[in-house]
Amino acid sequence: MKMILLGPPGAGKGTQAEILGRRLGIPVISTGNMLRAAVKSLTPVGLKAKSYMDAGELVPDEVIIEMTNERLGEPDCAGGYILDGMPRTLAQARALEETGVEFDVALSIEITDAEIAARMTGRRSCPDCGAVYHVESNPPKSAGVCDECGSELVTRGDDKPETVKNRLAVYHRETEPLKEFYRERGKLKTADNVPGVEAVTAVILRTLGI
Ligand code: AP5
Repeated sequence: MKMILLGPPGAGKGTQAEILGRRLGIPVISTGNMLRAAVKSLTPVGLKAKSYMDAGELVPDEVIIEMTNERLGEPDCAGGYILDGMPRTLAQARALEETGVEFDVALSIEITDAEIAARMTGRRSCPDCGAVYHVESNPPKSAGVCDECGSELVTRGDDKPETVKNRLAVYHRETEPLKEFYRERGKLKTADNVPGVEAVTAVILRTLGI
């Protein structure tokens, strides 16, 4: 299975990608997690990406395309993968096509801006392994501590309300047109957000027919 997950910031892409990746036994490639790791390690990519991420803007296409192509070339991707957060612009989608990357499905999680604004304030993330929680809807077993690796959870810098507002505007302008791009290619499927993480997983599995 080669899948793209589409959807606005906070739609639950990362949460569902982890669940689906475990279930299907394929790696999750999250450009957001890769970029946050690069920022933390002060790599050249991280140094370039930081100001864009802090402002809720997209990192330049050429940085993302090179980083993703490198990752897709690694051996664990041979049997399939879930791309979370890429492509995010038509240029990125076309670049994937030009390098011969084909997908079985582009799955878009459908959720309103109002639901997202309410959800983002409660998100907590693990700075080390990238696991994602919510203080109410998806809490860790022990408050403030990652279930996966035991690290202290943090609130992402780009989850401030004004930055979330800009990320949503960028999504509608740059990324939402990708739904039409994949619809034209017969690859688009949509899954409506419903209350609860497990319920959304069930909707996605039904949509995918698995
Ligand atoms: P990225 O990390 O990809 O951020 P995003 O797309 O904005 O998505 P999020 O990670 O914010 O949300 P999500 O949809 O994964 O939701 P989550 O599962 O966490 O990118 C960050 C930045 O990196 C970008 O702004 C950009 O600068 C840069 N970047 C990355 N990729 C790029 C690209 N291709 N091109 C250019 N720049 C790029 O869930 C959100 C919260 O809701 C959590 O707390 C979760 O626990 C909770 N939750 C999830 N599902 C449910 C549910 N069903 N019910 C209730 N709560 C739920």
